[in-house]
Amino acid sequence: MHYNTIGLCYNTLMKTLLIQQIEGFLEEPDMTAALANVSSCIMQSYDRLNWAGFYYAKNGELILGPFQGKPACTHISFERGVCGETYRTKKPMRVDDVLAHKDHIACDADSRSELCVPVLVNGECVAEIDLDSPVTNRFTEAEEKEMLLAAECIASAWQQHHWPN
Ligand code: SME
Repeated sequence: MHYNTIGLCYNTLMKTLLIQQIEGFLEEPDMTAALANVSSCIMQSYDRLNWAGFYYAKNGELILGPFQGKPACTHISFERGVCGETYRTKKPMRVDDVLAHKDHIACDADSRSELCVPVLVNGECVAEIDLDSPVTNRFTEAEEKEMLLAAECIASAWQQHHWPN
C-alpha cells in the first residue's frame, strides 16, 4: 500500500484530494486558465517545490505553459533535457539528483531533483507536467503515480475541451 503525506491510499479506487481538486479546475474550458490553477494547486499541495508547471508540444518543440516558480526556459528542443527525454520516451522521469543527470537543463539553479510526467492523448505526448525541488531525492513513487493520474485527467480535459485553444 502507498500512502501520501495526508494518509490517502493509492492502491484503491479512492481519489486523493489533490486529484479531486485538479478535476475541478479542469472543468474550465480555457487551457491557460485551467492549467494555471492546476500548477498552483500542485505547488500548494506538495512541499519543498521550487517550480511546478507545464510544457506543451507545439511546432516541433516544447513551449512553456502555465507555471509557478521562477521564470523558466520558454522553448525546449525534443532532443534536450529531462523534458525532451520525457517527450521522446513518453514515460515519467524521476530524477533524484539533477546535478548527476547527463542532460538536465537548469532553469532555476536551486533545483536538485525533478519529476516530469507526459500527458498522452491517443499515444502522443501533447504536454508535460514538470516539478522541481531544491532537495535531492524529493519525489516518491506515490507522487509519481499521483502525477500520472493528474496527467490522465489533463488528457481527458484536452480532448473534451479541444485543447490547445
Ligand atoms: N529541467 C528541465 C527544464 C525545465 S525546468 O526544470 C522548469 C529539463 O531538464 O528539461
